[in-house]
Amino acid sequence: MSRLDSMLRRLTAQRDGLNWAAKMIASLEGDVLDLGLGNGRTYDHLRETCADRRVWVIDRVLQCHPSCVPPAENFLQGEAEPMLDRLALSGHRIALAHYDFGFGVKEKDLAEAVAMSPAVAKVMVKGGIIVSGQPLVGFEELTGPEGIPPGRYQFYRA
Ligand SMILES: C[S@@+](CC[C@H](N)C(=O)[O-])C[C@H]1O[C@@H](n2cnc3c(N)ncnc32)[C@H](O)[C@@H]1O
Repeated sequence: MSRLDSMLRRLTAQRDGLNWAAKMIASLEGDVLDLGLGNGRTYDHLRETCADRRVWVIDRVLQCHPSCVPPAENFLQGEAEPMLDRLALSGHRIALAHYDFGFGVKEKDLAEAVAMSPAVAKVMVKGGIIVSGQPLVGFEELTGPEGIPPGRYQFYRA
């Protein structure tokens, strides 16, 4: 498979997964969290799809497209674990989280996702949904939307 095809499949899985998760949390109270602002693509999608919810973003840098800069009060700039702890202490809780951290180095990305899982768990509401580009631990694994090949994107219930 060409790298273009592979990227298209990953982005399609990401978008379909986020749309699916937005429907799954319809009856839950809670905010939305994008872990990894990056260019701002998924943040932009989440704020459109979940327009009635507060959308938090965590990233160590603010380097997104100018149209996707989150409001300062919703952007937690810094390393993810302390930022998740800050969010947990603030009392806000998350119904839908999207985990999109990664260096592009498989072993490092897997290890970081495992290490980060307990901090993610602390901010989730019971039954909240996590859509993730990396395997996480300590959550109930879900099948996710139809049409996404196993392993391409991960889906969990807190
Ligand atoms: C793949 S990009 C996110 C792409 C983004 N979701 C989008 O759609 O444009 C990953 C981002 O996560 C951030 N990041 C990775 N590990 C992090 C960590 N441990 N703490 C804070 N930010 C981190 C990086 O700075 C980078 O901007």
